[in-house]
Amino acid sequence: MFDVCVVGSANLDLVATVERLPAPGETVPGSSYAEYPGGKGLNQAVACARAGASTAFVGAVGSDGAGAALLDVMRDDGIDISGVVVASAPSGRALIFVSAEGENSIVVVAGANDTVAPATPPPTTVVLAQLEVPVATIEHAFRAAKAAGATTVLNPAPVKPLPDSLLALCDVLTPNEHEVELLGGVDRLRSLGAAAVIVTRGSEGADLHTSSGVEHIAAHRVVAVDTTGAGDCFSGSLCARLAAGDALLDAMRYASVAAALSTTVAGAVPSMPRRADVLSAASLSEG
Ligand code: RIB
Repeated sequence: MFDVCVVGSANLDLVATVERLPAPGETVPGSSYAEYPGGKGLNQAVACARAGASTAFVGAVGSDGAGAALLDVMRDDGIDISGVVVASAPSGRALIFVSAEGENSIVVVAGANDTVAPATPPPTTVVLAQLEVPVATIEHAFRAAKAAGATTVLNPAPVKPLPDSLLALCDVLTPNEHEVELLGGVDRLRSLGAAAVIVTRGSEGADLHTSSGVEHIAAHRVVAVDTTGAGDCFSGSLCARLAAGDALLDAMRYASVAAALSTTVAGAVPSMPRRADVLSAASLSEG
């Protein structure tokens, strides 16, 4: 039995640092270039594992050097990879620009992530997915998870129109402010069946919407150098704490500190903080 199973994408992130993000048609100089493991699914799985949750990953990588490196990352963090397929398509890649303010813009070429086929997650307390693998695959996983009594959490990013049949299978959704609007708003998502909608608002914190009303938590203050993967860190850390038995607001407080810390380190997977560092930062901010 795993604490969390993440159904999702794994990418090699190709990252150029720029003074400011280019406008359409514009060429700007880059000041550095680096490659990091990433992908919303892998980022969330690593965040889960580093928060102390036993974590399984269901996804696909290519039979190329990037795929081998991504599998090594999963093994290094103790993530179960028996649900990861090595596909004939190339590994997913993300082309990322990070500005001096830590903001980013991203283009994802899905590659092997588009081949992730419907599969039943292993016995798990929480099943977490995002939208970089086929929607039919997520719907199948959530249907199986609900039938087995697991909690389902969807991070609807990158946002796209979703069938009501999938939304009706989500216990918790973690959209940002932009995503929740494009999905029709909190009330619509809750009317389709979500017990909780957590709207993440970056440096403004996060709002928990349930049948009891709206509760807000503040963001943890840091100096951000790279916000890539911060939302993934929030969703992954949240699920780790929900699987450990935390109430939603307590899990959100942990996830909020973890997500803030993730913005202080360059890269997506490398920035996912370990539990000891999150607890230390949380206690310093309270003290
Ligand atoms: O959320 C950040 C992630 O989005 C990056 O790691 C990139 O791979 C894209 O999937």
